[in-house]
Order: sequence, then C-alpha cells, then structure tokens
Amino acid sequence: MELDPEKHASLLQARELLERSQRVAVFSGSGLSAESGLATFRNPDPDALWSRFDPTELASVGAFEAHPERVIDWYNWRRSVLAGVRPNAAHLALAAQPRMIQITQNVDNLLEQAGVAPQQVYHLHGSILHDRCHNPACEYRELVQLEKPSPLRACPRCGARLRPAVVWFGEILPEQTWYQAQRLCMTLDCLLVVGTSASVYPAASLITLARRHGSRIIVVDPNPRETDGAADIHLVGMAGEILPSLLDGLDLASTP
Ligand code: APR
Repeated sequence: MELDPEKHASLLQARELLERSQRVAVFSGSGLSAESGLATFRNPDPDALWSRFDPTELASVGAFEAHPERVIDWYNWRRSVLAGVRPNAAHLALAAQPRMIQITQNVDNLLEQAGVAPQQVYHLHGSILHDRCHNPACEYRELVQLEKPSPLRACPRCGARLRPAVVWFGEILPEQTWYQAQRLCMTLDCLLVVGTSASVYPAASLITLARRHGSRIIVVDPNPRETDGAADIHLVGMAGEILPSLLDGLDLASTP
C-alpha cells in the first residue's frame, strides 16, 4: 500500500509505539467490518444503517414489544447479509495477533471467522448469531442459522418471545464482559481504536478510561471525529489497508 510521506511517518510512529508497548488491546466498531461489505451505522456513507432506518423503531425494547415481527424481519435481513460476507484484511491482521484481546461493539463473528479465538473477543453489544429469551429471568439462548431466518417464536423454556441476542438502545451491556473490558482498559500501554465513531456509551467510555490509566491511543479511521482529541496518533485510512502494515511482524499481547 503506497502511503503519502506524512501518513507513512505516522504509521512508523505508531509501529514504534506498539513495539514499546507490553500490553495492547483493540477497541473496534462497525468500520472494522465495512470493507467486508457490512454497513456502518453513522458513517457519512449513504448506506449507513441509521441514515436508512430509525434505530428507535428497530433496535430497542419498545420497538420489539410494539412490533416484534418488524424487528425480527430486520435482524433476519442483517443476518442474511452477514451470511454472504467474509473477513477482510483488517480482521486477518488482527487474527495474526492471537495474544491480543479484541473488545468490539460489533455483533458479527468476522473476527472469529478470521481465526481469533472466541475467548479473545469481548462482544460488548452481544451477538447477531444468537437469539435469546426476552424474559430477563430466563437465560435461554440458541445459535441461529444465518442463511435460514428464524421466525418470531416462543422460548422453549419459559414461553416468552425469543429475540436477537444483541444489546438494544437502553439495555445494559453483558455484565461480565463489560467488567472484563473495563478492567483490561485500566492496565494497557496502548489501545488500538479501529473503526468506531465512539459515539455510543458506555462502550465509548473505554477510550477515556484507558487514557486516564496511562494508555496511549492509536485511532485507525478514514474520518476525523470527536475522539481525535483522545488520539496520540490518528492513522487516517481504511482498516483493511492500514492494519496489515501496522501489525505485520509484531507479536502483541494484552496481558503480560
Ligand atoms: N476502516 C476504518 N474505519 C472505518 C471504515 C474503514 N474501512 N469505514 C468507516 N469507518 C469508520 C467511520 O469513519 C466511523 O468513524 O468507522 C466508524 C463507524 O462509526 P459508526 O457507524 O458510528 O459505528 P460504531 O462506532 O460501531 O457504532 C457504535 O452504535 O448503533 C450502535 O450498537 C451500534 O455498536 C454500534 C454502536
């Protein structure tokens, strides 16, 4: 990949920072999967999901309880899109760093498809590959077939409705995963922030948390945005183009 001199200098600076870092983790968003063909949410791109759909009508408890079929149909459409895409060079570059933990807002499994061990991926916003019972007291969940849409149906254990195992607006993050992500971000030398507008909380607060505990911040994103203030280095560009050069030959770990 040919970089202009300024970008090349930033890339070298970022590589040197990573080489000096004992503990490195990744915090990613939908931009990591964009080059695979999955839409982002807010990107200026015309196909960003929230510029085409109203999240309050599709990704909230109120929406599911008011019109469950519409919500299930929309997630089945997103599942059918995911069924047709593959990991991109960014996922593969991250998978080549098996000791690094991936904290992601993404509900797809492209990091795991690229070879990242499931226990190394912290899905803060859940998984679109599973349905779970909508009854908070019931822990039933099941894997769904991405190619074969799962209809609106009742939980076989308690009779309440099953819904996608993703975190909707207003819902709390999976407690254990959120606790582990925060704990990790308090111990890092460097947090690699890839493909996120960092506009949804509490997930986005990990950047400030890491910085407050002494971590340096490297951002990989083609668009400048408000978190630039938090970035020590902003590598402006696509993750699929930058991460292979940034990480090639390094052996990064998130814990000693
Ligand atoms: N490489 C790197 N970054 C990219 C690329 C790319 N190829 N394409 C787009 N981006 C960047 C955009 O510039 C933007 O900063 O990815 C970011 C995507 O931001 P959002 O669309 O807001 O997605 P995300 O940050 O993941 O949203 C967070 O919002 O709706 C909720 O639950 C949803 O998890 C999601 C959360």
